[in-house]
Amino acid sequence: MSKKIGVGIIGSGAIAQQVHIPGYQKLPNVEVLAVADINPAAAETAATQFKIPHQFTDYEDLLKMPEIQAVSVCTPNYAHKDATIAAAKAGKHILCEKPIALNAREGREMVQVCRANGVKLQIGYCQRFSGNATALKRFIDQGALGEVYYARAQALRRRGIPGWGVFTQKDKQGGGPLIDIGVHILDLTIHLMGHPKPVSVSGMSTARFGTREGVLGLMGQWDPKVFTVEDFAVGLVKFANGAALVLESSFCANIEKDVMNTQLLGTEGGATLSPPTLFREEAGALTVSQITTVQQVQSHHAEIAAFIEAIVNDTEPLVTGEQGLTVARIIDAIYESQETGREVRLA
Ligand SMILES: NC(=O)c1ccc[n+]([C@@H]2O[C@H](COP(=O)([O-])OP(=O)(O)OC[C@H]3O[C@@H](n4cnc5c(N)ncnc54)[C@H](O)[C@@H]3O)[C@@H](O)[C@H]2O)c1
Repeated sequence: MSKKIGVGIIGSGAIAQQVHIPGYQKLPNVEVLAVADINPAAAETAATQFKIPHQFTDYEDLLKMPEIQAVSVCTPNYAHKDATIAAAKAGKHILCEKPIALNAREGREMVQVCRANGVKLQIGYCQRFSGNATALKRFIDQGALGEVYYARAQALRRRGIPGWGVFTQKDKQGGGPLIDIGVHILDLTIHLMGHPKPVSVSGMSTARFGTREGVLGLMGQWDPKVFTVEDFAVGLVKFANGAALVLESSFCANIEKDVMNTQLLGTEGGATLSPPTLFREEAGALTVSQITTVQQVQSHHAEIAAFIEAIVNDTEPLVTGEQGLTVARIIDAIYESQETGREVRLA
């Protein structure tokens, strides 16, 4: 048997072709052996373009291949759970795209089945691997901010309702900008804060543009009649250590420009992610320090390399299933708070 780690790709659409397959193929100790997609044309395109020897329309067939040790789940959100659980039961390690699933109930089941079957589950929160994020995290771990007690996380688009895929359909996607782009900055911010335990969430979500005709679309044209998600959401999360986080996300909002950023306030310093900057009081003066990262990192490829490293070294992935589940519990709670008008306590 080859010493290389055999990998299979479940769902061979955009993210699989742009990121996962090329990311694996850059690694000398990995071989992408198969793709599976319910759309045979998508499987064919990926297999041909990337010279992948096997293609299937049913991922169960891919999972029967003993030479495959790990899979990427790159299906839309509604299929993350079943594909991940099937892969875990077949004994494969899993890199599942973000968000973990449609909701926390599904995510919890995935985490449990992966643990029960002794396979690794990494969630695709690739922004943690960016050069800026890893550099800022090193400063935080060295105490540059002291105790972080507040964060403002923003994933805001001015006119960015996706005009393709299932991004505007609640039943297939689980939600709007909150579950699509808000999850990235939420996960990264909690990571930078050192993974405090969330205890309560209140939030608001609303659709003000997506169901209207004639709104400008800078990311293609969606169908306003098939728009069942929010286009703006905000949440306030409180943590067991007394810290708080505000998360804002939009597909469409009357703002100056798109924002993907987080701002952290600590007892010894503050920081922003983008651009990576520290704000401190030093030597009797107020200082602003720009962090310049020397190495350019392609965060998606770094995430894939880290997943393979976790398999080779038998270590926990940087982004665990449990952490992906924490993000899902917060997202669910923001939607629940909108429905009930109340703060949601997290057990
Ligand atoms: N990490 C990131 O930055 C990032 C960026 C984009 C998308 N994503 C995530 O990647 C996932 C896929 O997004 P995409 O843009 O590639 O979508 P896509 O629609 O381009 O591709 C999804 C593919 O999955 C296939 N599929 C659907 N159900 C399937 C099933 N049961 N079995 C096998 N294949 C199935 C579809 O036919 C399609 O080819 C989503 O969960 C999305 O949130 C992550």
